[in-house]
Amino acid sequence: MDHRVTLSVLLAVICAVAPAGSQPLHGRVRPRPKCTDAQPLEQRTELANVIVSGYVGKVMRKPRTLQYNCEVQIVRIFKGEETVHNGISPPMDPQTNQIMVTGFGDPAICDNAAHVGDVKLLLLDRDRNGFLRLNSSLVRITLGNLDMTNAFVKGKFLFC
Ligand SMILES: *[C@@H]1O[C@H](CO)[C@@H](O)[C@H](O)[C@H]1NC(C)=O
Repeated sequence: MDHRVTLSVLLAVICAVAPAGSQPLHGRVRPRPKCTDAQPLEQRTELANVIVSGYVGKVMRKPRTLQYNCEVQIVRIFKGEETVHNGISPPMDPQTNQIMVTGFGDPAICDNAAHVGDVKLLLLDRDRNGFLRLNSSLVRITLGNLDMTNAFVKGKFLFC
């Protein structure tokens, strides 16, 4: 076979294979995420009735269910102070500031996983039974996020 023919056959093969091969490995294997809460933090703070920062003290998984509860020690309440103090079930432990939060693992929420020791910003809502429930993705705590959340909740925009 002529060298040029060999080369063009090789190129044709490489070109045919390359698009598939250059895709990220996970792209083809992992189903598209079905979570639907990928709005900016600003909108998510508006939707959530209760916003707290807190420390995940305990993860309570139940067998054969996707979703689970966590015990969260509140560090700071950004929104919904009245609800947190008087309107939730089970009530906040006044000694430890611990609350129960449900909805972890909810596939509608993109960042839905908590681990013991995590410190997160939690955007919550009360469900029909008075349980505090994740309303959208957990937010990693950074100074920027805290400032931003504070500003959104107060209706001020410090950074623009
Ligand atoms: C978040 O709260 C809003 C307003 O209460 C509600 O419409 C929405 O369904 C909630 N999202 C989730 C994932 O529960």
